[in-house]
Amino acid sequence: MRVKSLVLKNFRNYEQATIVPDSGVTIFAGPNAQGKTNILEALHLCCLGRSHRTARDEELIRWGSQNARVQIQTAQRDGTHEVAILLDKNQKKKKQVRIGSRPAERIGELLGHVCGVLFSPEDLSIVKDGPAERRRFLDMQLSQLRPQYFYSLQRAVRTLNQRNTLLKEIAKNPSLLPTLDMWDEQLALIGAEIARNRREAVALLSEEARKAHDSLTGGREELRLWYISQTVDAPDAAGQLLGRLRAARQEDLRRMTTTVGIHRDDIGVTINGKEARTYGSQGQQRSAVLSLKLAQLEMAARETGEAPILMLDDVMSELDPGRRRQLIERIDRVQTFVTCTDVSDLAGARQGTVYHVENGLLSV
Ligand SMILES: Nc1ncnc2c1ncn2[C@@H]1O[C@H](COP(=O)(O)OP(=O)(O)O)[C@@H](O)[C@H]1O
Ligand SMILES: [Mg+2]
Repeated sequence: MRVKSLVLKNFRNYEQATIVPDSGVTIFAGPNAQGKTNILEALHLCCLGRSHRTARDEELIRWGSQNARVQIQTAQRDGTHEVAILLDKNQKKKKQVRIGSRPAERIGELLGHVCGVLFSPEDLSIVKDGPAERRRFLDMQLSQLRPQYFYSLQRAVRTLNQRNTLLKEIAKNPSLLPTLDMWDEQLALIGAEIARNRREAVALLSEEARKAHDSLTGGREELRLWYISQTVDAPDAAGQLLGRLRAARQEDLRRMTTTVGIHRDDIGVTINGKEARTYGSQGQQRSAVLSLKLAQLEMAARETGEAPILMLDDVMSELDPGRRRQLIERIDRVQTFVTCTDVSDLAGARQGTVYHVENGLLSV
């Protein structure tokens, strides 16, 4: 897939910007705090309907403005796609999506029109931090590849919140106890569906990440990933999850929260058999994240049949020459958007259009 144009209006520090990217590499260069990451954030918004760095859409609207707009046109095998995301502080619907000229009913309709992989220095947290970061990584990837997953995940979050609220209410009013059965059944069904997708994704990612890591480290390090879950890999996964929810009921009632389910999932990550999170050096953790990102690209390409776009936010300067070379090889195969303070960070990569970024203004 290829982005043909990106138009921003009152988005972050841009009053108005139009980007016509190169089919190869488009570079956004400039000093700190000028608006480089904001461009990638706009692209991410087009991929997933949300920013990669804030859950509050309001922050994306230019200070002093009431609304913002991001519009993107892509070329794919089946033709041209055009989608727009409108954010408005004053509207009842604070976020709206348009597909072509038609307003979408759900944000999820956006998914699939633009597919991308973003790699930024903060991604180190996928390996370094707790399970929530790894679940988020997995959920983002699966959501953009499988819209059905996105809807199921939304439903799972709602169901879990409702069950947790009910657990608190039962503590005050025990006669509500029988209504818990219905929530358990729903949570088990949807949990099993999500777990099936996650297990499959981790299997795909682990194979690709292992290969990428092997070549990154010249065969010195073996990266292993596996899915950790309370759900089982069996045709009756939902039934078994329901059994576990029932078994944990007394504990859940006492703690007034749900202790069993996919909100406890994790991805195990080891390098040469040692847990990367605890024993990996900073350099090893960085390589592991890079391998994960390269795996993400492969998985997306395989599932959609088209290369996704690649977004690199300030990562080049942090990579040593070996890792940089690996990344540059991939850059040469997909449409890439890169931010950097110094264009020389990209030495060796296919050069493309360079936009200089200064205080929300772009110049070529
Ligand atoms: N909603 C907003 N309205 C106007 N300016 C904003 C908004 N949000 C962030 N900014 C400005 O955007 C700049 C940061 O942009 P960013 O893309 O993160 O910088 P960098 O070039 O370092 O990647 C800062 O100057 C910040 O003040
Ligand atoms: Mg930045």
